[in-house]
Amino acid sequence: MADVQLMEKIVSLCKRRGFVFPASEIYGGLAGFYDYGPLGVELANNLKQLWWRKVVQEQDNIFGIDGAIIQNPKLWEASGHIASFTDPLVDCKNCGARHRADHLANTDSTDITELTRLLMDTKCPSCGQKALTPPRRYNMMMKTWVGPIEDDSSLAYLRPETAGSIFTNFKNVSDSMHPKLPFGIAQVGKAFRNEIAPRDFIFRVRELEQMEMQYFIRPEMQEEAYETWRTFAWSFLTDELGIRTESLAWHEHAENERAHYATAAHDIYFNFPHGSKELWGTHNRTDFDLSSHAKASGQDLTYLDEESKEQFVPYVIESSVGVGRMLLAILADAYREDELGGEGRTYLALAPRIAPIKAMVAPLLKNKPELVAKAKEVRSMLRSTLRNTAIAFDDNGNIGKRYRRQDEIGTPFCITIDFDTLGESPELKDTVTLRHRDSGAQERIALADLAVYLKEAIA
Ligand code: GAP
Repeated sequence: MADVQLMEKIVSLCKRRGFVFPASEIYGGLAGFYDYGPLGVELANNLKQLWWRKVVQEQDNIFGIDGAIIQNPKLWEASGHIASFTDPLVDCKNCGARHRADHLANTDSTDITELTRLLMDTKCPSCGQKALTPPRRYNMMMKTWVGPIEDDSSLAYLRPETAGSIFTNFKNVSDSMHPKLPFGIAQVGKAFRNEIAPRDFIFRVRELEQMEMQYFIRPEMQEEAYETWRTFAWSFLTDELGIRTESLAWHEHAENERAHYATAAHDIYFNFPHGSKELWGTHNRTDFDLSSHAKASGQDLTYLDEESKEQFVPYVIESSVGVGRMLLAILADAYREDELGGEGRTYLALAPRIAPIKAMVAPLLKNKPELVAKAKEVRSMLRSTLRNTAIAFDDNGNIGKRYRRQDEIGTPFCITIDFDTLGESPELKDTVTLRHRDSGAQERIALADLAVYLKEAIA
């Protein structure tokens, strides 16, 4: 069920509190493009770092790369994207509006014959007239020209997925790292798709960021590896990011839904404010990509098993998720409104490990220099102990307001310095108030224990 109000609240919070802004907003924006603000970039970086840690650094045989966005266009010919990376499109002959045929027909199928049948009596949602053209295929590759001359010889494409340069680096990674099968190559980076209908805030955009991993295996391992990476995706979303399981569901692609390279695909759907939709895909790409690139480039992309002396083209299981889509899912899942201390409040119940700001340090009163100085000292101590962690300082307004501001951006802990910290009550000297976001509960903790406590809580 679509929850229009929730989407409006999230869009508004993102703008008001500096998570996400429409790109080039002062010029009216550009459909399908967004800028990440100070808190959005912290949150997105936390997601990417966590994914990298779990997929690359904590795995034995997975290697990271960072490929170029623009590659030789032959890559996209061989991968099938120039011929087949299409969405079905209909135009309205009356008002000129363009729509995605599968969205209008409310189906996951992208089969043109089926869509033609389904849309036979459909009216244009923009003008209400029965004037839609039959569906046709529309290629989503973003074009550019490399060098000063704009002709067919300089035509190039912005990558539509990060996977492309993973396949073309299969040999480089094999030759430089000498891994044994199974092994993986992972990449995080921007991709571009000229979507017909970018919409639903950052759910469907034209400039996106992907976190992708291709796992190269012996063909007989395909079912086992497919299950492993499906399970990994589910557990990352629930155990690492704290997304509620009831917000998630499996969706197996029917044959007419699958991308041109996949023989099997399972998406994890998230219950977005605009409906239950794809968040994370696991695909069995077989030997499609390596075989296609070997054929088109004339290079040997086989794997030689040193022990058995077998030589073959590895199969590939792909794990692929969008950073922005994951960020939207997290915000939608964490958004809460409740009453605390007799007052309504909004808070984001984010898992502490991904919260953009991990803790806010505050002097109880702004106009007491000794409290301000101590609070700044505590913040410096936390900054140097907890590396790569954003710690805020806030002395603006009364303490209740400051807590509310942090609640709204999902800061899990607030630390308040008062006269007791400075020794007004000797038994409380060098202790601070630690406030917990979700319950609003407060406790007294020794300054000497604070960094260790936070380190464990945000791990
Ligand atoms: N390499 C495989 C691949 O790109 P995909 O299903 O087209 O597969 C993978 O995309 C993931 O990228 C999706 O599950 C989604 O999270 C994200 N994604 C795809 N298109 C997107 C778009 N237009 N806007 C935002 N995220 C998108």
